[in-house]
Order: sequence, then structure tokens, then C-alpha cells
Amino acid sequence: MIYGLILAGGNGSRMGNTHLPKQFLPLDETPILVHTIEKFLLNQRFDSILILVPEKWLNFTDDILNKYIGETDRVKLVKGGSTRNETIMSGVSYIEEVYGLSQDDIIVTHDSVRPFLTHRIIEDNINAALEHGACDTVIEAIDTIVESKNNETITNIPIRENMYQGQTPQSFNIQLLKNAYESLSLEERDILSDAAKICLLRGHTVKLVKGEVYNIKITTPYDLKVAEAIIKDSTFSERDPEKVLLV
Ligand code: CTP
Repeated sequence: MIYGLILAGGNGSRMGNTHLPKQFLPLDETPILVHTIEKFLLNQRFDSILILVPEKWLNFTDDILNKYIGETDRVKLVKGGSTRNETIMSGVSYIEEVYGLSQDDIIVTHDSVRPFLTHRIIEDNINAALEHGACDTVIEAIDTIVESKNNETITNIPIRENMYQGQTPQSFNIQLLKNAYESLSLEERDILSDAAKICLLRGHTVKLVKGEVYNIKITTPYDLKVAEAIIKDSTFSERDPEKVLLV
């Protein structure tokens, strides 16, 4: 089975003083989360799409789903976790309890606040996770990356051609991710904020999937303004999302 996991379990503290976690804020008058869910629903290969939100926002999200998405058996509302990885594992537990786990099952995990992903990115993720067991969506680093281990002076300037910026989706064979996560100590779980890194540390190959510059994560009020510009861009069309041009 192929599952979508839309990660909306955060509180969006870097968005500042908003009355709602950022995934519920309007983008072109529709909640950001709804834009993201719609992209997943367009792909018929998903057997089920899990929306993971903080417990106290479950009822609120249910209302949003009724209003904007309507009746569909494919969308399930599930309680998230205290960290992003815990939210993913909460989705995995739900899948295990409700559907059972098979060796070939995969999850496509995606930040709810990246509403501009495309059909092509989702397809590439599904195919790469089925073939390689784990994949991460990236774009080539645009700026030179400078490393400073002491946060005072430069310790390294890696070759830019080998540097990428991580986006989402990140997609995994469920059993592989579960085994890798369960092998971590509690301290390691606290430090490892990235699910792909968990696989990497346990020696699994993580395939790169090409992202898009406009597949931005809405983190700050500035990002929300950029997102409004992207969605209003005349080259953007819901029917042909590959045509979004904004660089
Ligand atoms: N996320 C999640 N569960 C958590 C924390 C984060 O599902 N416990 C999700 C967020 O809802 C978001 C995505 O992970 O869609 C990316 O995380 P980030 O942008 O850091 O979101 P927040 O944690 O909400 O933001 P902030 O760090 O500013 O508080």
C-alpha cells in the first residue's frame, strides 16, 4: 500500500503571533493545509492520506476537511506527536493498527506547509521509495554553503556542486524507517530532526529526488508573502502546476 502522510503537527512558532498554527492560515483565501491535501488527492496511487495535527486542533481540522475537501474515504485525520519525527511515527502506528504492515508498504511524508509540490515530485517519490527504500527531495544549493562548527569562524566551505538543499516529500519503506527509528536511543531521537538522516545513520541508501525552487516551506511571515505571490502568479495554474515559474 502507498500512504501519504501530511505533517501538520507543529505550532508554527516562527510565524509569530498568529491566532492559528501556520498550516491553517489562509493562502489565497484557503487554508495552506487544504492546498497541500489537494495535491495529494490528485494522485490516485495513494490508498490513504493521513493528516496529522496536534490533538487540540483535531476538531478544528475536521471542520476544515468537511468544508473544503468533503466526503472521501482516502483522507484520515490522526493525532500528531511532540516532534516532527514523532508525528511521522504516530502515522506509522496508525497504519499498523488500522491496515497492518506489509513489507512493501511505503509512506510519502510531506510538510503541510509546502503547498507547491507537484504531481511529478510525488510520482518520483513513490517510484524512488518503492525501488530504493528511502528518498529525499532536494534542489541544488544556490548559495555557497559555509560551515562553522563554533558559530564564530568558518571551519569548512564544501564544494557547492556537491551541496543540496533539503525539501520534502521524504519517502520511505515503512518497515525500514520503523526499524531504523526504533534502534535509536532517546537522546538520538531528540537530536535527529530529519527522518532521512535516521535511515542514513543506519546505513541505508537514500535516493535523491529533484525538487523545485518554488516548493518552499512557509515558515515566517515573509514566506507567506512569497507564497501569496507564487499562487497569484499568472503562470500558475492548478491544472498544470508544472508551469509555475518563480525564481
Ligand atoms: N510538524 C509536525 N509535528 C511536529 C512538529 C512539526 O507535523 N511536532 C510539521 C509542521 O506542522 C510543518 C512541518 O512539520 O508542516 C515542518 O516543520 P516546521 O516548519 O518547523 O513547523 P513548526 O514546528 O510548526 O514551526 P516552528 O518550528 O516555527 O514552530
